[in-house]
Amino acid sequence: MQNSVAIILAAGQGTRMKSKKSKVLHQLAGKPMVRYVIDAVKSAGVERVILVIGHEAEQVRQHLGDNVEFASQSPQLGTGHAVIQAMPWVGDEVENVLVMCGDTPLIRAETLRALLGQHMESRATITMLTARTDNPQGYGRIMRVDRAIVGIVEQGAASDEQKAIDEVNSGIYCFQTGWLRDRLPRLEKSARGEYYLTDLIAMAAHENRTIACLALDDLAEAMGVNDRVQLAEAEAILRWRVRRTLMLSGVTLMEPSTIFVDDGVEIGRDTVVYPGTFIKGDTTIGEDCAIGPNTYIVDSTIGSACTVFASVVENSTVDDRVSVGPFSRLRAGTHLAADVYIGNFAEAKNSSIGQATKMHHFSYLGDATVGSRVNIAAGSITCNFDSETGKKSRTVLEDDVALGSDTLLVAPVALAHGAATGAGSVVTRDIPADSLAVGVPARVVRKLRKSK
Ligand code: UD1
Ligand code: CA
Repeated sequence: MQNSVAIILAAGQGTRMKSKKSKVLHQLAGKPMVRYVIDAVKSAGVERVILVIGHEAEQVRQHLGDNVEFASQSPQLGTGHAVIQAMPWVGDEVENVLVMCGDTPLIRAETLRALLGQHMESRATITMLTARTDNPQGYGRIMRVDRAIVGIVEQGAASDEQKAIDEVNSGIYCFQTGWLRDRLPRLEKSARGEYYLTDLIAMAAHENRTIACLALDDLAEAMGVNDRVQLAEAEAILRWRVRRTLMLSGVTLMEPSTIFVDDGVEIGRDTVVYPGTFIKGDTTIGEDCAIGPNTYIVDSTIGSACTVFASVVENSTVDDRVSVGPFSRLRAGTHLAADVYIGNFAEAKNSSIGQATKMHHFSYLGDATVGSRVNIAAGSITCNFDSETGKKSRTVLEDDVALGSDTLLVAPVALAHGAATGAGSVVTRDIPADSLAVGVPARVVRKLRKSK
């Protein structure tokens, strides 16, 4: 598709969303609406995307970065006017222009590829994507005479008879570049003061140009999202696409409609996800895991053969064979090495926890570096935050440290390998290797074994 570019219209205000945010940045299954459109265009093989922005342009620009080129439209005088703004970025060597709206997130790459393919083969001036629907309300209706397309009538201008037409304009078309460039300036203002791109269809029909058409049996894929009801409808469809793809790739989703997985999340084979679970953002989960029920995982990497039960995992990395939960939370910057066991009511933040360390219940590790085979007994916590200075400090627990129940580790503090504390100790000073410390504040009472 080297001789094709795509123009995506996203300058409109999106009035019907009643939002401060640009309509095309509203998210579905964790991804902004317009990203779906861009991704579909790119995977259809069209490399250059020109996005027309206007309303909340800066927001959109920041979200999309250098993935696309931008053209500005201000004021926003309609879809035809929007395309005019993008044409200077379309070189004369480009043969076909794919025009579409930024508010059709369900469109699939295969459909765009078919549309472009048909356009090139038929050498039509315009190839339109149309769709049949039981509820054409809001869409431009396709007018045909003797089966040939002769124009589009917009909802606002349609007679009752025209409103009954069930074939609608998806807002997705291919144009021959030269013809498009030449005819756009001839568009006339509609009664509503806008230049409608859709008026080009009647213009082409008058000129006896070939107007080809790819007709979808079902509008679903080309539905436009104009308000939050349609946003929810489109998202429901996307969620099912994600669920289907996962299930067909070997992941068990128990009661799938209660499981919410963002587009782009990867999950390995034979992992079972239980009801009430959200898996969001940039997350990867390995094979043979049990995730959920009632679990929330965001922007995290989880290894294979892990269990995460009724817990929250945020911006964390978890290696193989780790068990978390129920009712625990891993906050940003946590790394759990293989075979770590985190039980109930435990929280870790910005901490690295070594292999086979156990943290069974009611405990908190913040800004800690914990070695292997450490035992964190019930009620033990790091006091990592000094409220007087506002400073956070680190706690280091070397390999094979054993904390007694209710140990308070007042950071900065380090327990060397094999050190242990008695129940209720308040540790304010470092403890040497293989030594037992007890009391408030904790003091060393005896050597546990000969240090290496
Ligand atoms: C449009 C079509 C309609 C089609 C429907 C499909 C026109 C006149 N109508 O109607 O035939 O059935 O899409 O979903 O084209 N935009 C701009 N600049 C503007 C105006 C709009 O960039 O000045 C952008 C919007 O951000 C949006 C897209 O164009 O992404 C479509 O605009 P919208 O107002 O949603 O058009 P519809 O009324 O849905
Ligand atoms: Ca629309």
